[in-house]
Amino acid sequence: MSQSSAQPAGPTGGVLIVDFGAQYCQLIARRVREMDVYSYITAPERALFMIQHMRPQAVILSGGPRSVYEHDAPALDPAILQQGVPVLGICYGLQWLAQHTGGEVTPAQSGAEYGRTELQVMDSKDLLAGTKQNGIVWMSHGDKVARLGPGFAVLAQSQPCPFAVVADRARKFYGLQFHPEVAHTEDGTTMLQNFVLRIAKCSTDWKPGNLVETKIAAVKKLVGERGEVVMGLSGGVDSSVAAVLIHRAIGKRLHCVFVDNGLLRAGEREGVEELFRDHYRMDLKVVDASERFLGELKGVTDPEQKRKIIGRVFVEVFRGERERCGNARFLGQGTLYPDVIESVAAHGGATSTIKSHHNVGGLPKDLDMTLVEPLRDLFKDEVRELGRELGLPSSLVDRQPFPGPGLAVRCLGEVTRQKLEPLRGADRIVREEVEKNGLHKGLWQYFAVYVPQKSVGVKGDARVYEDIVMLRLVSSQDAMTADWELLPTPVLKRISSRILNEVKGFSRVCLDISSKPPATIEWE
Ligand code: XMP
Repeated sequence: MSQSSAQPAGPTGGVLIVDFGAQYCQLIARRVREMDVYSYITAPERALFMIQHMRPQAVILSGGPRSVYEHDAPALDPAILQQGVPVLGICYGLQWLAQHTGGEVTPAQSGAEYGRTELQVMDSKDLLAGTKQNGIVWMSHGDKVARLGPGFAVLAQSQPCPFAVVADRARKFYGLQFHPEVAHTEDGTTMLQNFVLRIAKCSTDWKPGNLVETKIAAVKKLVGERGEVVMGLSGGVDSSVAAVLIHRAIGKRLHCVFVDNGLLRAGEREGVEELFRDHYRMDLKVVDASERFLGELKGVTDPEQKRKIIGRVFVEVFRGERERCGNARFLGQGTLYPDVIESVAAHGGATSTIKSHHNVGGLPKDLDMTLVEPLRDLFKDEVRELGRELGLPSSLVDRQPFPGPGLAVRCLGEVTRQKLEPLRGADRIVREEVEKNGLHKGLWQYFAVYVPQKSVGVKGDARVYEDIVMLRLVSSQDAMTADWELLPTPVLKRISSRILNEVKGFSRVCLDISSKPPATIEWE
């Protein structure tokens, strides 16, 4: 038997989002959940099956980078239009809808639009009810609908785009050539709400806060009276919330393993021991594998190589520990919904992979265990809400994300103890100063990066030739895009002076002012 997930993807009904490879697909799903409506994403080739089995109350077709007339365009079965479900096509989704209802799509030439455009609303009866007459919308398309099929009417246009918003009201098919899900589109949320709540009349019964008891019951049912669960605990939000939930369901039959890979931040291991062993009284085994990880990383400088080694060694260490919990047939994981989507993308979906992410949950399929993944239908902010419901402290629930490969991706070049020590010291100072001044609430992440580039400095009366520490302070909604942030000058000054005085090894403190894209949040 290979690993299997015994949980259903989620309740039936809700809104099914078909992912044509859109950058913004998860944003659409979140916007829908913000309306208390369940939403889930699927690949085009699975859409018909999902509609027939999950019975969604509405379907949204996302945007995507391809052209509907390309011979290898994502394959969505047009039979989805015969299922009696309201459909909203966004950008590429609209073009797909037009093409399969008797219309025509062509390269845009003069009709290509990227960025801000003014919308001229002609008909605001349903989809555009309550929206501005000349609102700004966010376009990004190289193809255009050249002709609509029978039954469709135009609800709004923009300067170069005569079919910006269209509808076939009888069949409840709607299309937007622009992106309502991005913040730059004025009234975008209203348009989505109009479709989901007014037109499709979806049920508003999705409340992550109500989930605690349902989730606990589901874990109890899955694991049974005697089943034992083993899981890797990283101290991050996801594995912590999952562990506390599973622990509430089955108590001492949950065995947690915390692997110290030598790439942790200052105080991390102690924090996990204190909370989970002392406070929650969980069965927690701490494995110090730092020698092993650092040994395997010796001489390795390529970022992807580093990530792969850390992933592999984690699996080896975890496998050894798991064998000691011989009775455990279940594997607990803090997998989130975006991880489910990402792994679908990684196995042939339309979205491309930038870095090979390693999570504590990134375990191989041949462990011969049944997965217990109570968070696999939730987004991060929903997990945080669940964590609060479970009584986890804010210092944990609201903590900044920390990558699976730890400080290795913030220590450029070879990872050595000589570099990790000062990096840990600088990172502790950044965290202390940001948090002490309450500035963490406006930041997604705030950390230090070790840049092994020597520059000349002067300490005391002597010349020094030492490395650079880079400050990375970013705001973000979901880590897909991020902006760099400043701190008040006195705080920046204090961070700089504390690092240069308290930490040995740096002659210079710099600030990274790059947004994502084109930079990423982590440096490797
Ligand atoms: P990037 O650097 O890709 O990071 O802009 C986006 C977000 O993901 C985190 N990150 C990771 N998280 N395993 C994780 O669990 C990883 O391998 C990993 N790499 C990056 C990063 O901290 C940021 O929040």
